[in-house]
Amino acid sequence: MNDILYEKNKKENKDHVATPRWVVENIYELINIKQFQSIWFPFNNYDSHFKLMADELNLKYKATHIFDDLGNDFFSTEPPKNCELLISNPPFGQQNEIIKRTFELVEQHKIKSFCLLLPLSTLETEKRAEMWEKHIDKLSILIFKKRIKFLNCKTSFNTACCWVCYNISNLKQKIYWI
Ligand SMILES: C[S@@+](CC[C@H](N)C(=O)[O-])C[C@H]1O[C@@H](n2cnc3c(N)ncnc32)[C@H](O)[C@@H]1O
Repeated sequence: MNDILYEKNKKENKDHVATPRWVVENIYELINIKQFQSIWFPFNNYDSHFKLMADELNLKYKATHIFDDLGNDFFSTEPPKNCELLISNPPFGQQNEIIKRTFELVEQHKIKSFCLLLPLSTLETEKRAEMWEKHIDKLSILIFKKRIKFLNCKTSFNTACCWVCYNISNLKQKIYWI
């Protein structure tokens, strides 16, 4: 049943796009992904390059997705034990709630660090600015110089994007252009 729903969602939901391989390779290198012992991909399963590449690198991870066998909704799924990194391209349409829950997980010591691929406009609006500002000490913003062509895109989606990274030791600057 979940497979049918997944395929239907893949066809119809404009948020159901996949991140191209070069974006995943790039961020894995920038953050030195191999240093993290327990990683969570909360919006990834099936054909996601985050997961495929993690398999190639023998990373220790948990990949969950709302359409997997367990219906792992990000908002109610627990991270893996001692989770050192949450990394994903979440559905942009739910970004406010996702940022909120992600910081709750940080504050509850359930995740140590995160990298979220978001539209550049994540940096605006009062609500989001308040959440980002509260954690500014450990944030780095990685701004894409060029637009990402997401896989499985249904519309002419052409939005500027950035990574918002929290508590990643080898990101020493607040802002990078990548
Ligand atoms: C922008 S896509 C990114 C897919 C994958 N992370 C990638 O980059 O290749 C976001 C995915 O999150 C899934 N999703 C939406 N809401 C979710 C939720 N509450 N919990 C878990 N996954 C969710 C969508 O079905 C969609 O496949």
